Amino acid sequence: MKNCKVAVVGATGLVGQSFLSILEERNFPAEFVLFASARSAGKKINWRGEEYTVRELNESSFADEKFDIALFSAGAGTSQKFAPLAAKTGCVVIDNSSYWRMDPEVPLVVPEVNPQDIEKNKGIIANPNCSTIQAVVVLKPLHDKYKIKRIVYSTYQAVSGGGRGAWLDLENGLKGEPPKKLPFPIASNCIPQIDVFTETDYTKEEVKMIEETKKILGDESLKITATCVRVPVFSAHSESVNIEFYDHFELDELVDAIRQQQNVTMFNDTADSAHPYPMAIDAAGKDNVFVGRIRRDFSVESGVNLWVVADNIRKGAALNAIQIAEILVKNFQ
Ligand code: A2P
Repeated sequence: MKNCKVAVVGATGLVGQSFLSILEERNFPAEFVLFASARSAGKKINWRGEEYTVRELNESSFADEKFDIALFSAGAGTSQKFAPLAAKTGCVVIDNSSYWRMDPEVPLVVPEVNPQDIEKNKGIIANPNCSTIQAVVVLKPLHDKYKIKRIVYSTYQAVSGGGRGAWLDLENGLKGEPPKKLPFPIASNCIPQIDVFTETDYTKEEVKMIEETKKILGDESLKITATCVRVPVFSAHSESVNIEFYDHFELDELVDAIRQQQNVTMFNDTADSAHPYPMAIDAAGKDNVFVGRIRRDFSVESGVNLWVVADNIRKGAALNAIQIAEILVKNFQ
């Protein structure tokens, strides 16, 4: 691989910190510059055996210096303004925010599902929403084999998905303090609202899951509904995924199709007392998507229920972006 130059934008945030640890773990072959807001300018970060000084991101950051890749996780406003500036200089932005995801000119990529879309990029590649990524990794082989008609998502999402503020709301909420970021206390509670409400009374998170699933699987005919819930868990999202197919399936063959998908770990033996099913504590800090509770939905002619768990900051954000970057770097050769 050619040594390239990478900007990490939002390096002090939860996803940004995960970018740094995964880049180090995977020994990503590049030279790095770390950016955040003016609040963090000058902050020192010890990483990969070196001291890095965080720079403030500004209008000239990408004009002054040439980058091959920029990993963005600094909110939609920052991506809206700075991703096009970076792309204009020939840098490929891998953007973790929601801002560019539904733009028809911007590929929305999960490497286990639609890696072929990477080469269609015009300077910006969007990283999907965390709850969507872990679901589509599992849906892809099933859609290929049995053609999905309808999906019902019900999510149980960790506070880390809401950034450092939501994480602190749970940490401090356990000590009896009121929340500062989330709309209600999260300790001992479940909040059936993630992001703001849209005019249809679905939350933005629910709309993201519905629309992004269709875009990544390349099938606008899919019928999808979703309910997204914030739960008092620090790391890893859990999801109940109910799927109805056009075609008939044998359960053991369906289980095998999921087992053969890359980067999936299956805990699907209810008689296995150690790992009868995956839980957030199994997935936290891990790279794979965990699947279990696979059982036929007897209420329809051809349907199945799945339980899907993954670390929302790793596979749901930073790792997925870095997998895309690894494919780009290979293509640079
Ligand atoms: P900072 O730490 O300086 O505020 P999280 O989602 O965990 O809250 O992290 C958000 C990340 O985005 C942080 O690194 C934050 O930097 C960064 N950020 C927020 N606003 C901007 C901005 N306008 N320009 C660059 N980085 C930003």
